[in-house]
Amino acid sequence: MTEQSVFPKDFLWGSASAAYQVEGAWDEDGKGPSVWDEFVRIPGKTFKATNGDLAVDHYHRYHEDIALMKEQGLKAYRFSVAWTRIFPEGRGEINQAGLDFYVRLVDELIANGIEPVLTLYHWDLPKALQEAYGGWESREIIDDFVNYAAVLFETFRDKVHYWVSLNEQNIFIQMGYMLALHPPGVTDEKRMYAANHIANLANASVINKFHEMKMPGKIGPSFAYSPNYAFDSDPKNVLAAENAEDLMAHWWMDIYAWGQYPIAMFDLLQKRGVAPTIESGDMELLQSAKPDFMGMNYYQTATNMYNPLDGVGQGKMNTTGKKGSSGESGVPGLYKKVANPYVDRTNWDWEIDPMGIHIALRRITSRYRLPVLITENGLGEYDKITEDHEIHDAYRIKYLKDHVAEVGAAISEGCQVLGYCTWSYTDLLSWLNGYQKRYGFVYIDQDETQEGSLKRYKKDSYYWYQRVIATNGATFD
Ligand code: BG6
Repeated sequence: MTEQSVFPKDFLWGSASAAYQVEGAWDEDGKGPSVWDEFVRIPGKTFKATNGDLAVDHYHRYHEDIALMKEQGLKAYRFSVAWTRIFPEGRGEINQAGLDFYVRLVDELIANGIEPVLTLYHWDLPKALQEAYGGWESREIIDDFVNYAAVLFETFRDKVHYWVSLNEQNIFIQMGYMLALHPPGVTDEKRMYAANHIANLANASVINKFHEMKMPGKIGPSFAYSPNYAFDSDPKNVLAAENAEDLMAHWWMDIYAWGQYPIAMFDLLQKRGVAPTIESGDMELLQSAKPDFMGMNYYQTATNMYNPLDGVGQGKMNTTGKKGSSGESGVPGLYKKVANPYVDRTNWDWEIDPMGIHIALRRITSRYRLPVLITENGLGEYDKITEDHEIHDAYRIKYLKDHVAEVGAAISEGCQVLGYCTWSYTDLLSWLNGYQKRYGFVYIDQDETQEGSLKRYKKDSYYWYQRVIATNGATFD
């Protein structure tokens, strides 16, 4: 327990979700199909073939969900807009019924004193654009993304003050074009870096559009940042950690903040023939776009060791919740990710490292001098509901408490943090891990075979966060 809060008065104590993971109503009110609507139907792609057709039915139950947020005292709610509700084909005519859903959602949040934080893109690309020109692999997407964003900017100009451009570009690009675990299910390093470069241009263009339109608010990307550590002080391992930080973090954040690719890595990728093609005007565009904050999704850190040229490549991911089932992974010649002996891990083998969020905030602050909006942080675990409909998630409270304490410490050291959004508000669909991996303050009655009443129940962590918010972080025990 801390006596006095270090958190600023207007600190955004929030929680987050994404359209595909909560809304359901996948083909209602004129919505078009997204690449995820299609991908989940390919056998073997998701845990027990779970999908977001119904998800947690937030589309129809948002009143109830917002009432719970209000009762908890939530200050901010981060959600994403499904592009396919606004433009079923990704471009062309606006689908007013789809847009109206978000107007109702935003109005209801505001009426309940909750600041909406709107994510423009959380991975559910219109299928029509994937088919028309290969989605992120074509520069045509830049205009379509800007056009879609501009409709939302205009609609919510006076209502939404915090905007996230792309959610975890580093994840959807690597999972989609290298690991083939997300749509479009490709494994091709050159195509990955090319698509990523185009996503950078789209991100920069949308940020510029926001500023050109003189939007009253702030915009930034949300980056999935796992700070890299060296396993020990063996210089080979220290260099491996530098490589990992350059390739896995600076590769994106240097572009967002400075419009520059990290020198050593760009050179290396060029020698290997996989660097993106830079056309005339690209770097000028990237350098002209200045985000107002760095959005950060933080879950874990990564510990690195030297990895020889004939060393380990991509390893097995744990999507089953069987602790210890993931394998080592790395980039031969650069680094490999190894277990950190100083931290525990979740049942999905995600390392639990509260001090890592502190380190992440310090690094971003020092390197980029940008305010940070923590757009995600949370613990995915199995939760059990008792006969009395109670959920005693002490492990989640501990996780969040330890992380919030470290955020406070970073603030007291001078980091400017605009807010902290937990992942997630209600339980929801975990893309590859189904419904058994739960993150919410609010339990949803639905098992991993998607059987259940979808009733909402408050977990112990719900009440814990309520107290944190009520004291502006002065009390979190
Ligand atoms: C982030 C995403 O990667 O982490 C979320 O922005 C996601 O959409 C969250 O659900 C947790 O990941 P996972 O794989 O456990 O669902």
